[in-house]
Amino acid sequence: MQVWVANDYDEMSRQAAQLIADLIRKKPTAVLGLATGSTPLGLYAELVRLHQQEGLDFSRVTTFNLDEYWGLADDHPASYHRFMWDNLFSKINIRPEAVHIPSGVAADLDAECARYEEQIRRAGGIDLQVLGIGHNGHIGFNEPGTPFSSRTHRCVLTTDTRTANARFFASMDQVPREAVSMGIATIMEARRILLLANGSNKAAAIGAAVHGPVSEEVPASVLQRHPDVIVLVDRAAAARLQKAS
Ligand code: PGA
Repeated sequence: MQVWVANDYDEMSRQAAQLIADLIRKKPTAVLGLATGSTPLGLYAELVRLHQQEGLDFSRVTTFNLDEYWGLADDHPASYHRFMWDNLFSKINIRPEAVHIPSGVAADLDAECARYEEQIRRAGGIDLQVLGIGHNGHIGFNEPGTPFSSRTHRCVLTTDTRTANARFFASMDQVPREAVSMGIATIMEARRILLLANGSNKAAAIGAAVHGPVSEEVPASVLQRHPDVIVLVDRAAAARLQKAS
């Protein structure tokens, strides 16, 4: 694992965007794996700026998002479909048909999960997967205890995760209890992984992911087994790292 410590959130976001921009310039048909949540908002704002001011071209890029809440339609204000269109896709020149996000309302969930895996395969696999991390070490919506062999699947959210995400909903009751997420094996097939975290409330999870035992109880610890992972964090999230560059 490479560990990069940025001075603050803005620098972390700029460095992440630069990594993605370099990939797209080198490989205009790059396949990106994308994440939602507060962490990548600065990254997406910077990618929009690079598109608008420096002509970064997304016209041949393909994307696959990690997850979606189960039960939320694409146009629900708190859906990850809406999040991605509002914060990134509507502001860059990506082709709508090149955007992939699991459906939270598929009639046949198993078929939807299989279809998602097949779409990733047909696109040639993911070149660079962006990840955030939960306080409990989750990646995507793969909560502690999720098998490392998991593929795209329906998952039950922990109370910790629902509480952390309640800020996006009117009340805790409205926070979905389940989601559809790429599995851990799906994520591990990405050729390169960029794990982002900022803030002191992520320091313990980052410490456990990087230095802790590799265990299904800390889903992000599996990344220690991946050959090309960049952990890019701000100083606050680096507080529990033993050595940082
Ligand atoms: P956050 O979520 O970016 O909103 O902190 C990250 C996650 O739960 O994976």
